[in-house]
Amino acid sequence: MDDVSPGNGALPPRSAFTSDAPSLSLNGDWRFHLSPTAADAPAGIEQDTFDDSSWSTLAVPSNWQMHGFGKPAYTNVQYPFPIDPPHVPSDNPTGDYRLSFDLTATWLAHPAVLRFDGIDSCGRVWLNGTELGVTRGSRLPVEFDVSGLLREHGNVLAVRVHQWSSGSYLEDQDMWWLSGIFRDVTLHARPTGGIADYWVRADYDHTTGQGRLRVEVDGVAWLSVPELGILRASVDASIDAGTVEPWTAENPRLYDGYPASDRERVPLRIGFRTVTIEDGQVKVNGQPIMLRGVNRHEHHPTLGRAVPYETARADVLLMKQHNINAVRTSHYPPHPAFLDLCDEYGLWVIDECDLETHGFSEVGWDRNPSDDPRWEAAYLNRMTRMVERDKNHPSIIMWSLGNESHTGRNLAAMAEWTRSRDATRPVHYEGDAACEYVDVYSRMYASHAEVDEIGRTTKLPFIQCEYAHAMGNGPGGLLEYRDLFEKYPRCQGGFVWEWLDHGIARQDPEGRLFYAYGGDFGETIHDGSFVIDGLVFPDRSPSPGLRELKKIFEPVRIGPPNTELADPETTRQATRPGAATWKTADPHTVETQGQPAPLSPDRSNPKTAEPPQTFKKASPTTPGGRPLSSLPAGEGVGVGRGEGVDRWKVVVANHYDYSGLEHLSFAWKLEEEGVEVAAGTLAAPRLRPGREITLELPELPETAGESWVTVTAALANDTAWASANHPIAWGQLNVTPHRRVASVTKPRAEAPHEIGGIPIVQPKLDLWRAPTENDRPGEALRWREAGLHRLQHRVISDERTRVAPPARAFGMLVTYTWTGDESELHLKAGIEPDGEWPCTLPRLGLRTAIPRQFGNVEWFGRGPGEAYADSRQAAAVGRFRSTVDGMQTPYVFPQENGNRTEVRWAELTDDTGRGIRIEGAPTFEFTARRWTSEELDAAGHTTDLEPGEWIHLNLDIAQNGLGTASCGPGVLPQHELHAHAASIELTFRPLGS
Ligand code: GAL
Repeated sequence: MDDVSPGNGALPPRSAFTSDAPSLSLNGDWRFHLSPTAADAPAGIEQDTFDDSSWSTLAVPSNWQMHGFGKPAYTNVQYPFPIDPPHVPSDNPTGDYRLSFDLTATWLAHPAVLRFDGIDSCGRVWLNGTELGVTRGSRLPVEFDVSGLLREHGNVLAVRVHQWSSGSYLEDQDMWWLSGIFRDVTLHARPTGGIADYWVRADYDHTTGQGRLRVEVDGVAWLSVPELGILRASVDASIDAGTVEPWTAENPRLYDGYPASDRERVPLRIGFRTVTIEDGQVKVNGQPIMLRGVNRHEHHPTLGRAVPYETARADVLLMKQHNINAVRTSHYPPHPAFLDLCDEYGLWVIDECDLETHGFSEVGWDRNPSDDPRWEAAYLNRMTRMVERDKNHPSIIMWSLGNESHTGRNLAAMAEWTRSRDATRPVHYEGDAACEYVDVYSRMYASHAEVDEIGRTTKLPFIQCEYAHAMGNGPGGLLEYRDLFEKYPRCQGGFVWEWLDHGIARQDPEGRLFYAYGGDFGETIHDGSFVIDGLVFPDRSPSPGLRELKKIFEPVRIGPPNTELADPETTRQATRPGAATWKTADPHTVETQGQPAPLSPDRSNPKTAEPPQTFKKASPTTPGGRPLSSLPAGEGVGVGRGEGVDRWKVVVANHYDYSGLEHLSFAWKLEEEGVEVAAGTLAAPRLRPGREITLELPELPETAGESWVTVTAALANDTAWASANHPIAWGQLNVTPHRRVASVTKPRAEAPHEIGGIPIVQPKLDLWRAPTENDRPGEALRWREAGLHRLQHRVISDERTRVAPPARAFGMLVTYTWTGDESELHLKAGIEPDGEWPCTLPRLGLRTAIPRQFGNVEWFGRGPGEAYADSRQAAAVGRFRSTVDGMQTPYVFPQENGNRTEVRWAELTDDTGRGIRIEGAPTFEFTARRWTSEELDAAGHTTDLEPGEWIHLNLDIAQNGLGTASCGPGVLPQHELHAHAASIELTFRPLGS
């Protein structure tokens, strides 16, 4: 356990593959016994005669803490044991495993190896009483030679696994500490004269379109790739493969082939591609790539790190469906099958070694193994095992040494060995800030300003291996990162942190499901909810952050001519200091925005299948288009229909790295107040990557109410990862603006207690929101210090109130003016800061409430999902229906959520249709929930939230942006909400009474 060596007894590492040689999965139920310490573990478990009848049963692969043995524990940086390398606590939970199995006689004729794909953290292995060896390196494979040790009946495989070992110092990744044999165990026959290992190098020459193939084989063999006419060719020789289709993440073309000997045949999936660094850019097949990536840990809410194949496959499909094109395998090599999936479906991969010593940062990196020669063998062993295991994957375009292990000679040695072994892939490691032994400059959580600076100065390709921390509600600021990545050729994108919330499914005493995080298992030290920071919830349902990311990552952009695609500036500006009131959308300004699935074109709808006869098809477009660089971003007035031009126009820009748009179908629809009035299709333009083109829409019918055209690009045909009609990209044009209804002068009214007989809590100023995870470390501390969570209201006159926190001198003066009668009540609230405000505001608006039964909601505004100032690209203008319950986003750690923006009107009704309609002049932000912001703030888990008698409504002018300050930069200045003079106008009408 305390030995710094990687272990002993293992065979040299080789690639993970299956062949036609016999293999036997030893997965299944094993006998299992957990001892609290290594010293307490029983003696003699390797003996055939050992009696394990009193032991429990545990599935292999699994993590024992997920099955009632011990408990999961979560820490981020800190080691959960004293920093005393290489020693580990004597209280070292030790799991003993035994499996008896029989074989057919044919097995005994072959040499054989026993393969473990992952044991956390240290395993000692015996077969039939013979010790095979000891292994460390949890997320790495190990093989033992078992030739001559097997018997036909009653084989006994015994494994002793310690939770802690010297290897734990190298495995301080930010995740749950989970132990056991958590990946597959397999017995492989190794026929004499078989193929021990192989290495496919399949290069692509983009200047000629030719492939060059070299398959090195450890053994005597020949190579066949029938599709390329390569039959029984020599291995270990460079073969001209002729004209081939290259492998890219966009078009993951694989050729089936096999090296074979007389005794063994190994199926290969060959992808031709060449990775280079030229002109300070990472290029694949001669083309610089844009990494639209995520970091992926392996986690499952009930199974821990034993992630089933179908779950891994679902991850890949979900990524592809959300326009993600890259994965960093943070911070260890994934299950090998995940990489097969990346090859097959098309994802660029940075394969990262199982290495992190972050906990040493707590002691100034004193005794950090990275620079200690005694640990060199362990470091090199880890790298070797990863590279050898994974070398045949075309999807892997970079090797990463590990994560957050500071710097030092052992890391440099890993890089040097890697380069000498594989000169075809660059080396990545974020911790080498000086870029002494890496090929790309990598950073995590660099702010927008830093990225801008790096873009201007870097000589190396730059990637953000982590950015946009997706913890809770957020991330905010994705659009601005995208702009920077696209501005500087050497900024090649990055990997959002992270794919998945690592929540663990549990039940409360009433049997209700909730997701546990750090501290929920009674850990003495832990890092709370910091492990809940993914784009998908623990059950892998997409969060609003993933929907936003899909919009940001769109490989096709659709919008009006001469505007910055997908960034309307309509009402937002007016919420900033100095803006006296809301800005009505300029009727001559065309906005572009995005929209999620519900608005996608419906092929089964005859209306959308073909353009109606009355509309002419779009005029033919020029193949190729003009370069994207010529897009006059933000220049001029963004009109879709200029003077003298009678057709609305839409610009389509191709942001793929390799593909045209032929695989997409384009559809449009015109909606008036969210109700479809016309729809049709557009011919998919022929457009090369990096170009944009203007398409004309057919003639549209005149509409009177606010109307938007939505143009969607969807998959034309089924693909391996989504069906035909799966939406890829969309944009909107405003063709008939929102018209502000001239307010009829109505008599002064009292603040109402009811509307049409429905009780209503008198609306009053509200500034508080339940802090998000991104608010908590910074803004929320200032808000609480300012007392914004406990405002007091002093009535000055019938209409005037001063609202202020206790013990502070600043406040807000609010004038509430009510006019109208029973059919229509109008409220104008004028807000005036009083005194010096020390901080931003969480929100600025009104809070009210209505009884619980009015829980059906329909609105016209942006939706269907939540949106905030700096995370709103995915919300489209439309008419949406939901319920108060359906409008909640179930963040594992409860916090502000569910905000709908630019709402023109919202109706809350009961099941009979009775209710209240609220109209904005012109719009408002809107949340509705069955608990107050204070209750939301106080909750630690979703099950703490109990619906009350009221539906609490926030009708806001604005909220502060989200930012990513949970790890990274806060809200950008343009998305901050400051105290300023503002007003909000709302009309309340009874419905169905
Ligand atoms: C990074 C680290 C990740 C994770 C993230 C915060 O520093 O590499 O593993 O801890 O911060 O969630």
